[in-house]
Amino acid sequence: MTTQRVLTGITTTGTPHLGNYVGAIRPAITASRNSHVDSFYFLADYHALIKCQDPAQVRQSAKEIAATWLALGLNTDTATFYRQSDVPEITELTWILTCVTAKGLMNRAHAYKDSAQKNIDAGEDADLAITMGLFSYPILMAADILMFNAHKVPVGRDQIQHLEMARDIGQRFNHIYGETFVLPEAMIDDNVAVLGGLDGRKMSKSYGNTIPLFSTEKELQKLINKIKTNLLEPGQPKDPADSTVFQIWQAFATPEQTQYMREQFAAGIAWGQAKKELFGLINDEVGAARTRYLELLANPDHIEAVLQKGATKARAEARALLTKVRQAVGIAPIN
Ligand code: TRP
Repeated sequence: MTTQRVLTGITTTGTPHLGNYVGAIRPAITASRNSHVDSFYFLADYHALIKCQDPAQVRQSAKEIAATWLALGLNTDTATFYRQSDVPEITELTWILTCVTAKGLMNRAHAYKDSAQKNIDAGEDADLAITMGLFSYPILMAADILMFNAHKVPVGRDQIQHLEMARDIGQRFNHIYGETFVLPEAMIDDNVAVLGGLDGRKMSKSYGNTIPLFSTEKELQKLINKIKTNLLEPGQPKDPADSTVFQIWQAFATPEQTQYMREQFAAGIAWGQAKKELFGLINDEVGAARTRYLELLANPDHIEAVLQKGATKARAEARALLTKVRQAVGIAPIN
């Protein structure tokens, strides 16, 4: 079996929550333990600037997200773990790619179109408060991916279009200047749950319905108690299919534990009891990592050193490809 390069990034706004953990971080760390996988995981801090203009928040989030990956046991000797902004080759590549990207392609990006449509619906100018950062976001993301010739990019469904755009842009470059980039593929794992949040909608920062991964035990318990349920009484059978409590349980449970909870639902377990057991299950899985997380946050120099080690590894790769790219487009010494 040949080695596959797997790459993914997390935008550094906000605090990691259970949805990020189950949907992205846990599967990525598991993949990184496979010796046929060469993993590149990074903090997308330049992406953060598109959504967030509060410098303190961008910095705090980068620290928390880095500490989260490390606390959960990412092996940074085998995986390359870095911060996007430490690899200036990526932003340099972004410009070169910008020059082969059709504006029409960017016009079709969902994130941009949604923002423009909201403006129009509100009777405003379509471009109100839309920055060029938001508009060209998919080009920065294409550079993240193409810079390292990644084969597979594990992402949520909402990012599929961005992956198609990265392929389009890479293909366009290859067509004009000759074979340079590997064309990446999105990796969507149907077995990985998209978790529901406190209100039952998808758990997401933008809905304000998240459960932070490393809440204190007390907070975790409190938030789990807030998960919306129906009004069925203890003793009345409950339907696992429409229950966020059950769905989160399943994301943390072994098949046997899932079967057990299915039986409890059929037998009419009280919501309070189901939530208490859910707390225990999650707390058992993340408790030890929470302790390491708090230790890491108290030791930012260590986090920084790990990121610098990653940046050195990542830059060595990036520089080699960027030299080829510059040569290909005619940015070269006079001779
Ligand atoms: N845009 C992605 C998100 O919001 C984060 C991201 C940035 C990313 N660059 C990437 C994901 C490259 C995968 C590959 O979720």
